[in-house]
Amino acid sequence: MHAPAAVGTALPLADRHGRVATDLRVSLTDRCNLRCSYCMPAEGVPWLPGPQLLDDQEILRLLRVAVERLGITEIRFTGGEPLLRPTLVELVRTAATLRPRPQLGLTTNGIGLEMSAGALASAGLDRVNVSLDTLDPERFVRLTRRDRLAEVLAGLAGVRAAGLAPVKINSVLLHGVNDDEAVPLLEYAVEHGYELRFIEQMPLDAQHAWSRSRMVSAEEILGRLAERFTLSRDPVARGTAPAETWLVDGGPARVGVIASVTRPFCGTCDRVRLTADGQVRNCLFAREESDLRGALRAGATDVELAEQWRAAMLGKLPGHGINDPTFLQPDRPMSAIGG
Ligand code: 5AD
Ligand code: SF4
Repeated sequence: MHAPAAVGTALPLADRHGRVATDLRVSLTDRCNLRCSYCMPAEGVPWLPGPQLLDDQEILRLLRVAVERLGITEIRFTGGEPLLRPTLVELVRTAATLRPRPQLGLTTNGIGLEMSAGALASAGLDRVNVSLDTLDPERFVRLTRRDRLAEVLAGLAGVRAAGLAPVKINSVLLHGVNDDEAVPLLEYAVEHGYELRFIEQMPLDAQHAWSRSRMVSAEEILGRLAERFTLSRDPVARGTAPAETWLVDGGPARVGVIASVTRPFCGTCDRVRLTADGQVRNCLFAREESDLRGALRAGATDVELAEQWRAAMLGKLPGHGINDPTFLQPDRPMSAIGG
């Protein structure tokens, strides 16, 4: 059952629209130590019950199937907040032994990263993205309902000190909350050598309170940045990356904008997601999931798991449909899907 597939024989995760998923996002927990208003209500959300969560061996088995049999070349650990998983360093260390060796990334809110960045880097982590939406401590409390900005900034510094480059920052701007921080955030990022990317807010909040008017669009962000910086098109090709990037004042600093809503990039999507409770989601906005945990616990072989995973890709829709009148937000919030 655990005989590795010969390297090079992987059958890829292809969908019916010409795309192949090579980038796996794995949510390690749906819990979080922040309560970002665009993600969760103040009281949080009902957490997934413990027995439903994949344990480390189950996660590692699915990662091995994904790398050896399905052509996954990049694995990103997400949450909720993935640093809340006590065994994160061990998971990274073991994932780094997979062959062909996948690129390993982490998307985190940065709390606790100051302490763990060194161990994560030694374990084989290649890249880190830290979420940071404001540089103002009081506003941070309003936005995340926790007084922990200093820890996030220390976490960023910790990643840089650990030699993990480029250190990326993800920022979500909201009208009337932090829409005036596009320039300060970029100034901060440029000064510290971090690479900033703005993400348009998507309808993935637990409260289902997303509105197009609260979202700050890519166009608006670029307009605000242009008041202070000269942005020129990044000569490096975008490829399948969701971010469009610009050089800041001629470079080398760059800034990215992920215009998920106003300039969707679904046509080049190379992602697939695994939730903390072992469900494959072929899209952030998928309305159906494939229960790999059930199959795993019922004794499926690696070949069967790979087949089920491949079949799950065939239902991947060509686009997220946010801009269609019939759009329905998925039941799972972002915190239970993984960014
Ligand atoms: N729209 C866009 N980005 C979001 N994030 C969380 N919720 C949303 C949303 N509704 C971001 C976080 C983090 C990453 C995982 O996704 O700020 O940077
Ligand atoms: Fe936590 Fe990320 Fe949601 Fe904020 S956006 S509450 S950091 S999971």
